[in-house]
Amino acid sequence: KSILAITIGTTLTIGSISASAQDVNSRIIRFGYGLNQDSKQGRAVQTFTEEVNRLSDGKFKVKSFANALLGNEIQMQNALIGGAQEMMITSTSSLIGIDKKFAIWDLPFMFKDGPEADKVLDGKFGQAMLDGLEKHGVVGLVYWENGFRDLTNSKRPIKTMDDLNSVKLRVMQNPMYLELFNQMGANAIPMAFSELFTALETGAVDGQENPYSTIQSSKFYEVQKYLSQTHHVYSPWVMLISKPFWDKLSNDEKTIIKKAAVISREAERKDSREQAEKSLAFLKTKMEVNSITPEEMDKMKASAKIVIDAQAKELGQDLLDQFFAAI
Ligand code: PAF
Repeated sequence: KSILAITIGTTLTIGSISASAQDVNSRIIRFGYGLNQDSKQGRAVQTFTEEVNRLSDGKFKVKSFANALLGNEIQMQNALIGGAQEMMITSTSSLIGIDKKFAIWDLPFMFKDGPEADKVLDGKFGQAMLDGLEKHGVVGLVYWENGFRDLTNSKRPIKTMDDLNSVKLRVMQNPMYLELFNQMGANAIPMAFSELFTALETGAVDGQENPYSTIQSSKFYEVQKYLSQTHHVYSPWVMLISKPFWDKLSNDEKTIIKKAAVISREAERKDSREQAEKSLAFLKTKMEVNSITPEEMDKMKASAKIVIDAQAKELGQDLLDQFFAAI
């Protein structure tokens, strides 16, 4: 008991010293993300870190944690809400636990390219979505790009919708993805990204879906043979900051964070688009890459329509109409 008391006492003392030191001299930001340091996510977190440091003359210190070291996306979101962590990058898909409206960004086959998505994300519609997060305990700063999602698997080449039949496919923890791939004939299995590589390696799942750059940076080509260019969803990322932390910042400090966030967004999107091409070229040397014919694409889109209609019921047709009008 006494050892416990000493430990707790010491922890509290260290905790209160660092809290007061932080208030006077510096602001520590613990920034968590899911991919590794060599990914485009890692590079953009580095850009943000340098910019925030430069703009604040070193007052802000960002400590970044790659590879979901601070937890998976859902755990980190909760840590932000509770004030135990300051910042993170999240997929829109896992944000639906905080605000179900975020499901709109992952609707299948919506955008033709990145710039079209940028227009909606950075326009009034995208900003209103970010503004809506604040009442849930997190502040949405900017959108980055994860990118168009494509399928990989180790079972067979997937060139048609029928080829997806019974493929055990890991999807993000979002009912829309589950429904989408089950509609297309696969056996969709929701799973946190941090468990994915092992699941692919052991055959617990046959495949997964992510952008080329993530397939490369996470080395999925080592355990996956086939890549299908389905481009089924354009997936953004959201840079979040904890509202309890945000509320402690002065207006000048908030401006610094916002400026650095915008700089990182521009750099990340440029990097993401260049990297997509490089990653595809790389993956062609490691995997069998298959494109999908326009006829098969139409079948997939018809299947997706069922999911879109279901989301219209869940989120309200009004919201979907506003979204379509913004595209
Ligand atoms: O597949 C996922 O879970 C997401 O695309 C990832 C890689 C965690 C990025 O947000």
